[in-house]
Formats: sequence, C-alpha cells, structure tokens
Amino acid sequence: MIRGAIKSKKVDRVLVIPTGMPCFKPARKVTLSPYRFYMVKAALKDEPKCEVCDIEQVFGEKSYTVETLKNLRKEKVVSDKDELFLMCGSDLLFEFESWYLPEEILAQAKLLCALRPGIDEGQARNQAAHLEEIFGTKVKFFQIDGVEVASSAIRSRADWSSEKGIPDAVREFIKCHDLYCEDAPLLHVSDEMYQTLMKHCFTLFRELSGKRLLHSMNVCVLATRYAMRFGADPDKCALAALLHDCAKELPEKVQIDLAAKIIHGYIPGKQILHSPAGAVYAREHYGVEDQEVLDAIQFHTVGREVMTITDKIVYLADKLEPARDYDDLTEIRRCAETDLDAAMIECYLAIKESFGKKGMEIHEDTKKSLAYIRAHRGEKGGEA
Ligand SMILES: [Fe+2]
Ligand SMILES: [Fe+2]
Repeated sequence: MIRGAIKSKKVDRVLVIPTGMPCFKPARKVTLSPYRFYMVKAALKDEPKCEVCDIEQVFGEKSYTVETLKNLRKEKVVSDKDELFLMCGSDLLFEFESWYLPEEILAQAKLLCALRPGIDEGQARNQAAHLEEIFGTKVKFFQIDGVEVASSAIRSRADWSSEKGIPDAVREFIKCHDLYCEDAPLLHVSDEMYQTLMKHCFTLFRELSGKRLLHSMNVCVLATRYAMRFGADPDKCALAALLHDCAKELPEKVQIDLAAKIIHGYIPGKQILHSPAGAVYAREHYGVEDQEVLDAIQFHTVGREVMTITDKIVYLADKLEPARDYDDLTEIRRCAETDLDAAMIECYLAIKESFGKKGMEIHEDTKKSLAYIRAHRGEKGGEA
C-alpha cells in the first residue's frame, strides 16, 4: 500500500503510525505497543519516502484517529501547509461512518483509498460517492498490487515462518523476541495489571532505548510464563520484570542519589547501581508500592542470600529472555523448564565460570544466594 501510494504520485511521503492504545480491540488481546512500533520500524527501515512516527507511543491515551491527526500538526510532525490523507483499504469506506467523529477526521485529512485486485471496485466507488455526499469530502483512489496476508493468521502462528509477503526483517523480529507464542503468558495477568503494564510501556518508551525496552518486555513475558510454571504471582512478576531496568539509562549521578535512599554507607559498582536505583525509581516514578516487586527489582543483578520466588523469576528471566544470545543458555533454559532452583544454580555457576576466566570473583551476595539455594535443596534431599 505504501509503495502503491508513492508510485501513484498522489502523495510525497508516507507516515506510518503504529497504534498506541487501540480504542476498539479488547486491550488484552493486543501485543504490547512498543513491540508493534519497533517491528514496523524494522519492516520499513529501507523504504524510501516513508517514516515511522511514534506520535501514538508517547501519549498514553486511547488513540482516536482524529486526535492523532490533530497531534501531528500540534507536534509539528507535519506543517500547517501539508495536506494530509488518511490511507485506507476499501473495506474502511464501509466502516467509516461509525468511526469516532468522522466529520472532524475529514476536516483534518481526506481519504486515500487503495484498490487492490480482487475487490469490487464499483461497490467501493459507490460507497465513496455516498461519503462524499454526506460529508462534503473528496475520496481519492490509487491502485496497488494485491498481497494476501491476514494478520490474524500470522498471529495465530499458522506457520508464519513460511508465510510469503512478510519482510525478512519482520520474520527475524518475531523470531528474536518470540512474539505470538502459543501460550501467550500475558493472558494470565489480571486485567488491571495488563492496563498498568500498557501504561508503563508509554513511559518506558520515552525513557529507554528501543533495545532496552524490547529487552524489558521480553523479560516481562518470560517472567510471567515462569510465574505460571512455578506457581508465583503473575502480576508481581510481570510488573517487576517490566520495570527491572527502568533506571538504567538515567544519568549516573541521578542513579547514585536514588540508590542512596535505600543503601547506606557505600555506592554499588556501576553494573549494580541501576538495581537499587531502579527499585526507588519504580516506587517514586511508576508508583509501585508492593515491596516484593521493589525487592525483585533491587536484587535482579546479583541476588541476595534469601531470594523470594519473585526475585528468582525476575533474575532468571533477565538472563534468559529470548533475545539474549551472549552465551550458550541452552542448559540453563532447559533447567528452567522444570526446576527453578536448579536453573538458578546453573545460572550462578555459569556466571562464576565466566568471571573466573576473567580472573574475577562473583559478588558476595551471589555467593551467599548460591550457598543458600544449595543448602536448601540439600535439606530437602535435592541435588545441587
Ligand atoms: Fe539490569
Ligand atoms: Fe535487564
């Protein structure tokens, strides 16, 4: 559609605006919006005359088209002189009257409708004439080549890996972040928590780089899966996991000041600093009050002697999320299929080994945690 519009010379450039918070789809069924945003960016990276616009990602409101169109001018994404077209498929012509404030939409932009092979062009043109009459607008058309890809088929994983028409970059993105997995872990968090996670994604979008935000969302999904697997609270795990690195891109001075509120007498090293800082930041900036969640954020880098189940799950999900590829994680991931403590021990030992190779010792708290988990398993007759 983008290429067809450019080729038709009816537009100079195309702005692609991934939806932030959809108005009509049930919120729970929607992939967290930054996934969609960065996936679209990957897909259109090399597309000429086309930009991906984050205007709906930065406002944490329901994304009504009319508001987005107004915001484009308000935020100077387009100039007052630019003429705007809302690009659509012919099916939209038949729904348009039921949209929120259609006449106000048309005061901001005209409709530019794609005609693809196989649709009934006569019907589309009749409907366009109907809209032109009631709204006093002018609907424009352009031709495109047909591509048959239904998004619902991709999401249900009707073998999207061989689906034609999906750009390689998108295929790679879906694979790397393990999207649309069959167990859809976030379905297990409460409705209220899902809304909270969506809301925090808007703030995180402004505060974290794309890579770190994608990492945080991957950790969130994986931690929720582990919560279901090991009988922990999915809401607590999802929230702590999403926010675990929330302070990591703040200036060091700010992180030190935050961490100093809960750690007294010394400043943790650079790699660890963001975890206590993150716990304070999650409380002050994201309004998290649950101490168990704050603890899991505070102890996600080196652990602590006695780890709660939430601590362990966030710790492991951080190390094992699907986009992590720095080491061979196969064995630890395999342990995490069935045995949380075994996976913790494997993970600590892998870190110990890699530190050892660099002539370094693991953190005191990690040692204590390892010893505690081993002893605890020993007590129960388990093997470490
Ligand atoms: Fe971290
Ligand atoms: Fe992390």
